Formats: sequence, C-alpha cells, structure tokens
Amino acid sequence: MKDKIEKLLKDAGVAYEFIPLPEDLPMDVPSHMNFYKDTLEHALATMIYKTEKGFIAVSRRGDTKVNSKKLRKFLGIKRLSLATEEEMKSLGLTPGLVPPLGHSIPLYFDQKLKDIDYFFDGTGHKLFGLKMRVDDLLKVDKATIGDFTIYDELSTLKIKRVLSGITPSGSTLHLGNYAGAVKPQFDLLEKGVESYYFVADLHALTTIQDKDQLEKCIINNVFDYIALGLDPEKGIYFRQSDVSEHSMLAIVLANYVPFGLTNRMHAFKDKLAKGVSKENINMGLFNYPILMAADILLYKPDGVPVGEDQRQHVEFARETARSFNKAHGAIFPIPEALIQKGYTSKVIGTDGERKMSKSLGNVVNIFDDEETIRRQIMGSYTDPNRKHPTDPGRVEGNPIFIYHDIVNDNKEEVEDLKKRYREGKVGDVEVKEKLFAAHMRKFAEARKKRKELENNIDLAREILEKGAEKARKVARETMKEVYEVVGITNKLSRQ
Ligand code: TYM
Repeated sequence: MKDKIEKLLKDAGVAYEFIPLPEDLPMDVPSHMNFYKDTLEHALATMIYKTEKGFIAVSRRGDTKVNSKKLRKFLGIKRLSLATEEEMKSLGLTPGLVPPLGHSIPLYFDQKLKDIDYFFDGTGHKLFGLKMRVDDLLKVDKATIGDFTIYDELSTLKIKRVLSGITPSGSTLHLGNYAGAVKPQFDLLEKGVESYYFVADLHALTTIQDKDQLEKCIINNVFDYIALGLDPEKGIYFRQSDVSEHSMLAIVLANYVPFGLTNRMHAFKDKLAKGVSKENINMGLFNYPILMAADILLYKPDGVPVGEDQRQHVEFARETARSFNKAHGAIFPIPEALIQKGYTSKVIGTDGERKMSKSLGNVVNIFDDEETIRRQIMGSYTDPNRKHPTDPGRVEGNPIFIYHDIVNDNKEEVEDLKKRYREGKVGDVEVKEKLFAAHMRKFAEARKKRKELENNIDLAREILEKGAEKARKVARETMKEVYEVVGITNKLSRQ
C-alpha cells in the first residue's frame, strides 16, 4: 500500500512527506499526534463503512466524529455500519492504518477538512506516517466533499486518558453494564483515547468470599471484554490486585477523607436500608469508595466512563483529590465522571422498577445460554397498565423498548413496533420475540468468539498479566510522587 501511495503522489507531482515512526509507537491517534507534536485537528482519520450500495471510505478530522444520520442523508442510503476487521482485510486494508488514498472504493471527504492546511495520516505501513496538504490530496483523490461530521465533544473537553473498573461479582455482563459502561468505554478507545480498564477483584471481596467463585468471575470478565471487542493491545486491561499500588494509595488517601463523607456513600447506606445492622457491615464495604478513589487517581485520568450509579463514587474521588492537593500541591488532576445522557446511563431492570443489577437478579445478560436469555426477556415487565394487546401501551420507560433501543440495530423495526404498541396493534409477545431475535443478532459474533475463548483460561491470565505490566508503570510513578510529597521516603520513593 505504501509504495502504491508513493507512486500516486509522485505521478501527481504534489508535495508530501513520509515520516519514519518508532517501532514501539502505539497504534492510536493521540500517540501519533503526540509524536508529531501536533493537535488532533490535524489528524486525518479514514474509516471504512458498509452500506447497501457497497463499501465506502470516509475521511474526517481527528477532532470531529461522523454523524451517521447526516451521512446517510447525504448518501441517500438507509444502512450504514463500520466495516468489520474481516471485511477490511478482504479490501486489502489494515484496520487502524487506512490511508486516505490508494484504495479502490469511493471516498467521501468531510468539508471541515478544508479548514485545515495540512494533515497527518497513515500510509498503510506501521512504520511510516504521511504528512501533506489538504489541497494536494484533493488534487490526487477524486473525493466527494460533504458535511457529515460534528465536532467531538470529547476533544473539546480534552479527554486524553480514561479509566474504569468493573467488579467481577456476577458471572457475566448484562445489558446495563454494556450500554452504561462497556460500550461507551470502547467508543472512547475507538476514538484513540488512552484507556485503562480493570477487573476490580479487591472490590469483589466485599461480597465474594469463595476463592473458586472469585477466580471464575474474574476470568469470565476477561472473556466478556475480549469477546465484545476489546483489543488488549490498544486498551490497557488488567486485574486490580496485580498492581499493588491500588492498595498502597488507598491507605494514604484514607487520611484525607472525612468519616462523614464516607458515611454518606450509597453502597453503605443501601445496606443499612436493607436492614443490615451497622455493626455487621464489613469495613471493606465501608472503605469501598476510598479504594475506588485510589483506583482512579493512581492513573490521573481526565475522565471516568461509568453508569449513573457510580457518579457519587467519582464525586468522592474528586473530593479526595481536592483535599490531598490542598495539603500537597497539584498532584492529582480532578477527573470528570463521563456518564451517558439518557436511558443508557441507568438501564432499568426486568422488574421495571430498579436499575438493572446483578445483585437484584433483574438482568438480561449478554452471554448466557439462549434459553436463559429468552427467559429473562420473556419474563420482563412491560407496561403494567396494559391488559390486552389492543390497549394502547406506553413505550417511554418501558423496559422492553429500552432493551430494543440498546440491542436492535434494525431501527425501522423498532420504530414500527413502538408505533404499533402505542396504537394497541401489537402484543407483548411479538415485541419480546423480536427483542430476543435482535439480541441474538447483535451479539452473535461476540457470543461465538466467547465460546471459542471459553476454555482458554491461560490466555485470559496472560492478557491480565500483560495489561498489569503496562498499568504498573503509570501506577508506580504516581505512588512515588505521593510517597515523596507526604514524606514516606522509603525505597520506592527514592527509586
Ligand atoms: P459495577 O461492576 O457494579 O458496574 C460496572 C459498570 O457498569 C455500570 N452499570 C450500569 N450502567 C447503566 N445501567 C445499569 N443498570 C448499570 N449497572 C451497572 C456501572 O455504573 C459501572 O460503570 N464500583 C464499580 C467498579 C469500580 C470502578 C472503579 C469504576 C471499582 N473501581 C474505578 C470506575 C472507576 C462497580 O462496582 O461497578
């Protein structure tokens, strides 16, 4: 691909530069722009989409994102989805390295690109980047220009690094975890944000005290993440207890947290509300927010992508950072809670009342066997006031329509079902059957991949260990800094 591009550019007689890249440069856009000492607006991203008219390539600026509605309207098409790795390979393209020219599919250029002079992009070769002028590219490539992007809120927020954790307390992920946390986390990674995720095994000790069960939950979590598409080469994915700095920092931070604040945390208050006596609540649960603050602050992230139920904990971490900084100077940046807008931030459970949660058992899981998932869906609450299929029903806040919005990529079908439901022209059973079918379609690839992974426990362990090696580097630096400013001048702080 690189040679082909070079020839095209030479033949066209335009100026360009091939920039040698270091071998260990991560594949993500921010790392590249950091290396070029330039900003995201000058990063050209070329994505391959599949449409009903065939494959297309779309180039946009790194600080914008494609708005699929605008793009569909512009192209006069109905279906649009990102090409899978397999499909890209069949086109002779390498995911992550697609250059803006030299391929044989139609290219569409977002007009915001015309506001910048020059750009950086890939050459199809990992060790070379391309720098050239936008005008020159347009001389070589017969791209169609259109307006189909919007500015990316994240780049204006300057989110460069994020971190998030998941407690391995259930056997597998449910739709709440997926829509509220995992999907947004993967979207950030896709946008090139440096991402840390971890399996919070130390947190799980508040509820699991059986070592086999704990290990099973941890390994299942790895399978879930990998099956859903996490590339452990891109996102740093590890196990909390493998990086001992989490525990070390929690001990230090505890001294900057007032009892009153911890006492108001909802995990603890929820237990009290359930009738558990204060005397019997374990200190792990009480201290949970302190360990979580350590988890977060250790990596100095700009954002923490989580569901609404974790907002209070992120606020606790922010408070803790402020109080530490007040004593010792600006050590910790104050991270933002990155919480989805709308129904995905707090996906309702199948009981139609409380948020979907493994401990409440009101879940629709992603990787259970078909029968279990069918049962979870068929048993879900809908509109309690609707007695007959001919009664007009309520769609808003109705769990089965919320799940349709999450899993059903056939948006026309969803709109049709909603319309008929409102008019009393469709029964719950049909809506649920279609939901089950959509669930199976949406996660077919992931479920297949997970089945293939299932017996490979060694692989799961290897992924976690490799991730921990990378995470430890950042964690160690922060811990050294913290020990130094608080006055623990031991071996670590002197290293
Ligand atoms: P956990 O394991 O309960 O949940 C993992 C993630 O899934 C989100 N989530 C939901 N989002 C929308 N709707 C729902 N029904 C729903 N249920 C769960 C959660 O908000 C979370 O983002 N304390 C954390 C784990 C943790 C952590 C951290 C997270 C430990 N340290 C540091 C962020 C940063 C927890 O138990 O999440």
